[in-house]
Amino acid sequence: MKKNEDNLKAIIGHAKEYGFVFPSSEIYDGLSAVYDYGQYGSELKRNIKEYWWKSMVQMHENIVGIDAAIFMHPTTWKASGHVDAFNDPLIDNKDSKKRYRADVLIEDYIAKIEAKIEKEIAKAQKRFGEAFDLEQFKSTNPNVLRNQKKIDEINASFKEAMNNEDMPAIKQLIEDLGIACPVSGSKNWTDVRQFNLMFSTEIGSVADEANKIYLRPETAQGIFVNFLNVYKTGRMRIPFGIAQIGKAFRNEIVARQFIFRMREFEQMEMQFFVRPGEEMKWYEYWKETRIKWHKKLGIPDEFYRFHDHVKLAHYANAAADIEFKFPMGFKELEGIHSRTDFDLKQHEKYSGKKLQYFDPELNKSYVPYVVETSIGLDRMFLAILSYAYQEEKLEDGSQRIVLKIPAPLAPVKVAVLPLVKKDGLPEKAREIIDSLKADYYCQYDEKDSIGKRYRRQDAIGTPVCITVDHQSLEDNTVTIRDRDTMQQERIALDEIEKLLKQKVDLKNLLV
Ligand code: GAP
Repeated sequence: MKKNEDNLKAIIGHAKEYGFVFPSSEIYDGLSAVYDYGQYGSELKRNIKEYWWKSMVQMHENIVGIDAAIFMHPTTWKASGHVDAFNDPLIDNKDSKKRYRADVLIEDYIAKIEAKIEKEIAKAQKRFGEAFDLEQFKSTNPNVLRNQKKIDEINASFKEAMNNEDMPAIKQLIEDLGIACPVSGSKNWTDVRQFNLMFSTEIGSVADEANKIYLRPETAQGIFVNFLNVYKTGRMRIPFGIAQIGKAFRNEIVARQFIFRMREFEQMEMQFFVRPGEEMKWYEYWKETRIKWHKKLGIPDEFYRFHDHVKLAHYANAAADIEFKFPMGFKELEGIHSRTDFDLKQHEKYSGKKLQYFDPELNKSYVPYVVETSIGLDRMFLAILSYAYQEEKLEDGSQRIVLKIPAPLAPVKVAVLPLVKKDGLPEKAREIIDSLKADYYCQYDEKDSIGKRYRRQDAIGTPVCITVDHQSLEDNTVTIRDRDTMQQERIALDEIEKLLKQKVDLKNLLV
């Protein structure tokens, strides 16, 4: 079993070797925390987007999608609070000259204690086997209780300092916990200070303050400023949602862990407009709906957990993350936020326009409350890739690397392989591809032994391989090989479509 960091390294190496993710502008040594998606990566990304879009928009009569511009009027960001409050606490180590997010140093410290608890649980699970009772163990084991108490105490001080934006208190906590720089091992820290994460540039030809605009740090504001347009033109009735997929930009202080934290990334966000006072009901509804969306992919439950926010963003009255067990531990994958009427009210104030909804049932106008679901597309990509990447030892002693990507999201759905490059088998294989390619992304491969070709398809996560052999010419049957079980079965040509519908159709995830 690989260590976590080695596992992430192996995934990064695999992603590059097989055309999923490349460092941006690599011939110039790359650009920190910016990545390009290759031939298979862009397919996987497109499929994740389609799964999200169809689930959120197509499957909900009361949710519509938009595509707003990245550049927005600069007042947007004043109104939203991002100019004043979209900051991360920053700290430098004086010896290594390395820069860190102070909150991340503390979170990493907590994660180490959590890892100790997990280790203790795993040990006990092994010892007690079937009879193991997790809840009882957690509430009685002295080591677990001691470590949990430590976590709760740190969280309490951390929450207080973050909520009060008390930078000296955050530094004090780092010193009290004895947190050292991971590079130099030194505890020689600067003061903690706030750092705004927005990228700015100038619009037009004259570069001065008046022309300064920002690259959007979240897609949500494009939805808020279009609230009235969509409500009026779409004849929407509350509760209703507006969804969007698009790029966002943040000048992250600590850019690491591959595509987990990027400076240019993509978000899939939905703002759900509700009656004031009903937001907690919808907040619970969306928490449940979103976790179901994740679990439908067949990744085991133990990879997910909810985490309530320690520090609420300036706009929220409740917020939770869906966390995923990445190779580097449980980390945020998606946020569900009850954003109150903060954004629309702020835009009313700054624009002077009324951003209200007339509720025919109540016969009055009001500023709706908003529940938001927000997931990073790249982070979802990493979650899938890190779960899917598996090194398996086979019965014959050999090893295979396989990407067990949920079949409907796999970049290539079907590979069609003639057993040999002659005797009319390539032509037959091409005929099969021609009959399938309008519906499924297919790949033809005739090079190397059939075993090597199966391995190549395993490595890019192709769920189904169809092998054409001499018997195929005689009786119109082919061999179907399943990626995960490696089982092979012979079926008639006219059964292929039905089998693919069962195995790889996105529809299976939507019902
Ligand atoms: N509109 C709300 C919002 O932007 P957030 O928690 O800051 O909330 C939402 O971001 C999601 O966007 C996160 O859960 C994460 O999946 C993704 N995300 C945020 N920053 C990211 C980054 N630097 N790189 C990749 N994904 C990021």
